[in-house]
Amino acid sequence: MDITNSTVFIPGATSGIGLGLALRLQQAGSTVIVGGRRTELLETIAREHPGIHTARIDTTDPASIAAAFDDVTGRFPALDTLIAMAGIMQPEDLRDASFLEVAEATVTTNLLGPIRLVAAFEPFLETQPSATIMTVSSGLAFVPLPATPTYSATKAAIHSFSESLRVQLADTAVEVVELVPPAVQTSLMNQDELGMGMPLEEFLDETMALLAAQPSAPEVQVENVMFLRHAVARGTYDETLALLASRTH
Ligand SMILES: NC(=O)c1ccc[n+]([C@@H]2O[C@H](COP(=O)([O-])OP(=O)(O)OC[C@H]3O[C@@H](n4cnc5c(N)ncnc54)[C@H](OP(=O)(O)O)[C@@H]3O)[C@@H](O)[C@H]2O)c1
Repeated sequence: MDITNSTVFIPGATSGIGLGLALRLQQAGSTVIVGGRRTELLETIAREHPGIHTARIDTTDPASIAAAFDDVTGRFPALDTLIAMAGIMQPEDLRDASFLEVAEATVTTNLLGPIRLVAAFEPFLETQPSATIMTVSSGLAFVPLPATPTYSATKAAIHSFSESLRVQLADTAVEVVELVPPAVQTSLMNQDELGMGMPLEEFLDETMALLAAQPSAPEVQVENVMFLRHAVARGTYDETLALLASRTH
């Protein structure tokens, strides 16, 4: 991905990692369209950050994805990058009455959402001279957090999906990049209020440096995610799972 000269749509960028990455990519020279459901935030972002564009999208709704595709590609025919950022994370207790509702919503947003986005945007991206689909997994794709079983499972599925997608698109202009964040201080599951995980700006510094240094790397892995990403290869899976078993985030 060329961070200096891309036209990037980020569904899931009204806050957190998505918004941070949107601002960094714009600073680096790219044209950025921020997407999300909260229209008041979209309006505030457009007002506070001249040059950032916005588009309303609910990635759980196929009609909303189709409308956003028409809107964004109509206004930005040079669109060459999709970052499927939208995600939710909630505590999941299998024996709680709310479990199934949370689990189903998590699968719809975190797994079905990116799959539907890719299906909608990939044929268009293939027509560009070069293009990027960035998926967003997590260190929890590689060792699950037992407090969020469905969330962790959706992220493992996103990793697997990304690997296959990269193979299927190998002879096209579309590269597939998987962003693998560690815990980052955002409002995803109140990590920001609890001070849990990496400060967002540090995560963005390292991520942008990696994207600049290795524009064709298949995965973006900051240092803090290595203990999860490579637990199996390092032979530390069991002890890492035991560590995560004692955590809520
Ligand atoms: N923070 C971490 O520790 C961490 C670690 C690993 C991976 N990640 C992943 O990073 C991504 C971003 O999370 P974050 O930490 O930045 O959390 P966040 O601040 O809560 O951001 C989540 C974003 O997703 C959007 N979103 C949620 N549901 C949506 C839907 N149905 N349609 C459209 N947009 C939707 C939200 O916008 P609206 O509410 O306006 O729609 C928001 O912009 C997620 O995929 C998350 O799983 C985060």
